[in-house]
Amino acid sequence: MICPVCKKDCVRPAEEVLAEIEQRYQACLACAPEPNLDKTARADLLPERIKRCRSCRRATLDAVMLDALRLLQSYGLRDEYETLRSVGSPLIEVGYPLAYSPRLGPRSLIIFGERYSKKAAEAMLREIPEIKGVILSRGVAGVVDSGEKPQENVLMAGCDLRADISQSLFGELLVYKSQSQIHIEFSRHSAPKMKILEQLYFQGKLRDVVDGLCGPGTLGLMCVLAGAKRVVFNDAWPPAVQNVLLNLEANRSLLGIDEIEYPEPAKNVVGKQPVLVGRAQGSCEIEVYHGDLLRLFSRTRPAQLCLIDHFPGANTAELEKACRCCKEIVII
Ligand SMILES: C[S@@+](CC[C@H](N)C(=O)[O-])C[C@H]1O[C@@H](n2cnc3c(N)ncnc32)[C@H](O)[C@@H]1O
Ligand SMILES: [Zn+2]
Ligand SMILES: [Zn+2]
Repeated sequence: MICPVCKKDCVRPAEEVLAEIEQRYQACLACAPEPNLDKTARADLLPERIKRCRSCRRATLDAVMLDALRLLQSYGLRDEYETLRSVGSPLIEVGYPLAYSPRLGPRSLIIFGERYSKKAAEAMLREIPEIKGVILSRGVAGVVDSGEKPQENVLMAGCDLRADISQSLFGELLVYKSQSQIHIEFSRHSAPKMKILEQLYFQGKLRDVVDGLCGPGTLGLMCVLAGAKRVVFNDAWPPAVQNVLLNLEANRSLLGIDEIEYPEPAKNVVGKQPVLVGRAQGSCEIEVYHGDLLRLFSRTRPAQLCLIDHFPGANTAELEKACRCCKEIVII
């Protein structure tokens, strides 16, 4: 599988990534302890640099963020009063609830924040080996309101493809996200959305499901893993739909998928009339639509369960009305 963003080898089958995740970020026997720098201390009170491990050559998270802070200072984008926290949010390439601070190898961290320049972002990629991509934050990415222009963040340098491991009682999945274009959600052990799916499962309701605002597909994919017989994915945002197709491919053996077809390519505009862009067969019958949920049931038959997972605070009244043909609607 080729990375759709950088054309390198960022995308690997889920089962391979899951098999090695426990070791991936663990310190080696020679790694120095985590420095635990004060994230709110002024730059001029912090060490100049922290060395990588001499044996495994990996870096602590603090070491990478400190290098990024020093580099931003050298470009005049941070001053001596600013802190490690001012650099931005570190997003590890494969997000997983870790009980310890990760040790990072090459191209394993994406930095997401404000006040970066293109030149500084490119220098971060060149000079700090652990950095894979730099994203300038602009707000919530995706179709926030179907009547308004969608927002997206800006990939300043490198590649923004990363994945989160999603865990539930049904098992684990790997959900890839082209992160500058997809809303950031952090994976946690007690992920509340997964708890909702688990409850629905015990009520026997995860058999015929529409994931109406699917984003990269986390909920619908988990329904497939839970043994659903039919799952329909839909999103109006082209990057979300592209991510769903990539995630079906990356998780195909975990999901028991035999065959994936791509009836039509997703157009690079916010979807209106739903178009069937993916179809998969195997243990579950899967359809992927690129379009407005308000019009989805003009293209596919209603389901027993329709999941509506909008951005926090968004009004779902119109969408609920449009999905009334389904037996049950659950707002996530
Ligand atoms: C909170 S995100 C979904 C996250 C996803 N369920 C997950 O767990 O990864 C909301 C999604 O709804 C999509 N969206 C918003 N309004 C829509 C509409 N009317 N029709 C289709 N998609 C819409 C956005 O593009 C965004 O991807
Ligand atoms: Zn890539
Ligand atoms: Zn080491």
